[in-house]
Amino acid sequence: MTAKIIDGKRIAEEFRREVRKGTDALAARGRRRPGLAVVMVGDHAASAVYVRNKRRACEETGIASVAHDLPASTSEADLLALIDRLNADSAIDGILVQLPLPAHIGSTAVLERIDPAKDVDGFHAYNVGRLAQGTPVMRPCTPYGMILMLEREGIDVRGKDAVIVGRSNIVGRPMALELLIKAATVTVCHSQTKDLARHVGAAEILVAAIGKPRFVPGSWVRPGAIVLDVGINRLPDGKLVGDVDYEGAAERAGWITPVPGGVGPMTIAALMKNTLESCLRRK
Ligand code: GUN
Repeated sequence: MTAKIIDGKRIAEEFRREVRKGTDALAARGRRRPGLAVVMVGDHAASAVYVRNKRRACEETGIASVAHDLPASTSEADLLALIDRLNADSAIDGILVQLPLPAHIGSTAVLERIDPAKDVDGFHAYNVGRLAQGTPVMRPCTPYGMILMLEREGIDVRGKDAVIVGRSNIVGRPMALELLIKAATVTVCHSQTKDLARHVGAAEILVAAIGKPRFVPGSWVRPGAIVLDVGINRLPDGKLVGDVDYEGAAERAGWITPVPGGVGPMTIAALMKNTLESCLRRK
């Protein structure tokens, strides 16, 4: 079998166009456009690329992005004070604090200071709790982006055996909760899992969120599986690859996301959608 490619780049463009329509409709009614504050502390190289892409997507979708680039030496108190100001700013609908933060800043304290109604990353305990209860409000962007992508492709998840490799708060855990809402049978694997190949081999839906280049060999993939590859890893020769061996997996899978151009653009499209929806809810 040769897998059908899930073209995240194209699907994300569709969502960005839909968000643009929403923000233009607000402007046409004389309302202000949605505002997103993007906060970055320090100069983590990969974060700088993500943040640039997020700001570019804001321009394209008619969202006003406000950059707060703070030095790595910023104190936790100063960052919390900035969040307090953004929480109180009526022109700001979304607050995104790019992770990771420098080691001297406690990320839990920071994420929990963000008004849950402006938490467009969906990382606040309130939004995580709502997702865990199956009544999500603001949904973490990478899992939400994957769900939007599956829905747009007409891929039904109900009753399928889903295996997630990775248990991070950003991807693995919330994706498990998203797939539970969709009534998949969910297994979460991680670095301590025994016989990972056996679990992966049973997956009708495989979500790879490990952060290691080509960690999952194609030979592990169950024939016909839906493979969602969250990894973005740069090889020494500059090439970007996912967490799954794409060429090998594409020979066995039913559906597969490429890297780049798969899950990555959907994360940003979901962020734009969350920001517009936050703005509409807050008005
Ligand atoms: N770092 C890696 N992914 C993300 C994300 O989706 N949101 C934020 N805020 N930081 C990240």
